[in-house]
Order: sequence, then C-alpha cells, then structure tokens
Amino acid sequence: MTTAISVGVVGCGYWGPLLVRNFRGLANCNLKAVCDVSEARLKHIKGLYPDVEGVTDYKRFFDELALDAIVIATPVQYHYSLAKASLLAGKHTFIEKPMASSAAECEELIDIAEGKGLILMVDHTFLYSSPVRKIVEIVQAGDIGDIRYINSRRLNLGLFQHDINVAWDLAPHDISIILHILGEFPIAVNCQGNAHVTAHVEDVTNMSLYFRHKRFATIQSSWLEPRKIREMTIVGTRRMIVYDDLQTHEKIKVYDVRVERPPHYDTFAEFQYSYHYGDSYIPHIIQEEPLKTVCQHFIDCINTGNQPVTSGREGLELVQILEAASASLKANGAPVIFSRTDKIVSVPELEQAKKVVHVKAFGG
Ligand SMILES: NC(=O)c1ccc[n+]([C@@H]2O[C@H](COP(=O)([O-])OP(=O)(O)OC[C@H]3O[C@@H](n4cnc5c(N)ncnc54)[C@H](O)[C@@H]3O)[C@@H](O)[C@H]2O)c1
Repeated sequence: MTTAISVGVVGCGYWGPLLVRNFRGLANCNLKAVCDVSEARLKHIKGLYPDVEGVTDYKRFFDELALDAIVIATPVQYHYSLAKASLLAGKHTFIEKPMASSAAECEELIDIAEGKGLILMVDHTFLYSSPVRKIVEIVQAGDIGDIRYINSRRLNLGLFQHDINVAWDLAPHDISIILHILGEFPIAVNCQGNAHVTAHVEDVTNMSLYFRHKRFATIQSSWLEPRKIREMTIVGTRRMIVYDDLQTHEKIKVYDVRVERPPHYDTFAEFQYSYHYGDSYIPHIIQEEPLKTVCQHFIDCINTGNQPVTSGREGLELVQILEAASASLKANGAPVIFSRTDKIVSVPELEQAKKVVHVKAFGG
C-alpha cells in the first residue's frame, strides 16, 4: 500500500480542469490545491470542488502547501520558469505539451530533475490513448510490413493562439505519435506556412520529417479550416492503417492493400504494377480516457521511481523538432538537418539545406 501523492495543478484555463478531474479520480492521489493568476478561474474550480485549495501566488503554492508533485498547465511561455521553480522546490513535475519554448530550456529542466532524482514527465497525451497503443501493437507485430511514410492532418477553425504558431500548438500530437511509431528521431525537418490572421503567428503549416531508409512523415496543421479533421495514414509495404480520431467507434481501419513492382522486366509492355486488394478490418479498441492513463502513469512513476514513457527527454526531442520547424519556416521551407555527431548525414534530397542543428543525443 503506497501513500497518496499530494498534487497541485498550476493553470486552470481550458486544459487544467481536465487534469484536476482526472487526478482527483485516482485512488492513490490527493489533488490538494490549484494555482492560477486569475481569481475567476480559481472560483470556477472551487465551485466544482469546494475542498480544493486555490491560490494565486505560485511561490506560496510551491513552498508552503507540502505538495509532492506539481502539474503545469499554463500557456507554453510559462512552462520553463514554473517547472524550474517546481523542481528547485523538490517537487516531481508534470508539464503540458510542448515542454518549453526552447531546447535549451528543456535541457536545463532535465538536468535539474536528474540532479535531484525527481520525476519529470511531459503530457504527450496521445501516446497513452487506446488507438495509438493499438497502432503501435499492429506495427510492432509486423502486420503492415515496413513503414514507407506517415501522413497526418490536424485541422480546424481556431482556437487562435498569440504566443505560439499552429505547429507548436497542434503538431506536438502528431510528432509524438510519429516518433513513437517509428521509434527514431528524424534526420531532417522542413516546414512551410503562412500567417494569415495574426502577424508573425503562422496559422497554417506543412511540416515534413525525414528519417533513415527513405522514410518520411508529413504533418499538416491549421487553424483555418472549415472542418475539424484528425486523421493519420500509416503506409506500410504490406498493409496500410487509417486512424481517424473523430470516429466514435471505428477509429482505426487496417487496409490489406499494396502495390508491388514486378521483380524485373525488359520492355515497357512487360511492365505491370501488381495491385493487391484484400480484406480490411477494424480492430477492437477499449474506450478509455487517455488523460486518466496519463495521470495514473505520473503517479505510478513517482511511486516506483521508473522513468515515464514521455519523460523530459521525449519532451526535449519534440521541442528540438519544433525549433527546427520554426528555423525552416524563417528560411522559406529550407530543410534543417539534425546532426548527432559532427559528421553531417548525407541526404541527397536535402542538399539545399541551409542549417544544421546539433542535437543532444540520448542513446538510440
Ligand atoms: N495534451 C493536450 O491534449 C492539450 C490540450 C489542450 C491544451 N494543452 C496544453 O495545456 C496548456 C494550457 O492550455 P490551455 O488551453 O488550458 O490554456 P488557457 O489559456 O485556456 O489556460 C491557461 C491558464 O493558465 C493561467 N496562467 C497563466 N499564467 C500563469 C501563471 N504564471 N501562474 C498561474 N497561472 C497562470 C491562466 O490564467 C489560464 O487560466 C498548454 O501548454 C497547452 O499546450 C494540452
């Protein structure tokens, strides 16, 4: 029997209250207090949960309330300073996606957490969702063959942010899923986009991630679409998966379709692609709220000392990709190549790359 971990949530806007509800629902957790600079948001939470303490001063929150763990759900620009204060106060720390505004900030937070032996987790929510877990299971079982490419679209009208562009807002979900499915960090990133509504804040972006063995992924993000779309296609050499997160029950479909070239041919007349059409199927998925699994995982990691599936390191990798995407946007879509050693990886299709970013390698 483990003792209940006492948790406080900073930031009670749109997402914070969902975290409050989920942490409150866990048996081995005591959601003790919330913090927000807005009295109105604190009043809202107090109205829902009168027993939860509400404070506006984050210093008091970190120093005086005897909390074991802090959850940060403020806008991204405050993640680093709040997480740093939380870790320095000796609290296990959970940060919403994206982890911080720069890779340097993420690295500093990781170093502090490691130095103090604290759990640092980032909320890459979709990795804890049943459909994504099922996709990873199908891919790892070899059912779709080798992945050729992944295409992801996350589009809707709004909600416009002022401090981050649409790639930083929406693409973290796609990037985290893609890295998890492929199990590797990209060689290069490029990104194009435009700011139509708010100056210098891109509301439409198209990002490409290049991986080894000619694999690549494309991510389209938009706040300027009439329809809400949450769709990902994973194309394998043997089968293809379509993941539509807006479907209620049939979120994943596995298509037994593929195209094969004949092994050799001498004349054009002999050349014929071979199209294979087999049965499609819809895997059964147990419906559960991903955020509940996320919150439980954080508490479990605190109790066991195990590293979270989405630790600070995964948070850093995601921010490295977002930073590279921003650099590419500034260079009109020129690719940014990642180098984990001083030797630049040769990617013929990226020869026009203007920028090489040296990233901190964590194994792999
Ligand atoms: N994992 C997901 O699927 C998901 C979904 C939505 C949002 N998010 C993330 O959650 C975070 C919050 O997003 P949101 O949409 O709830 O934002 P929001 O603007 O609706 O709410 C943020 C809240 O933080 C408060 N706040 C701001 N600065 C503060 C400070 N220094 N101290 C205390 N409180 C402060 C604001 O008053 C506000 O109530 C972001 O990082 C966002 O990316 C994650």
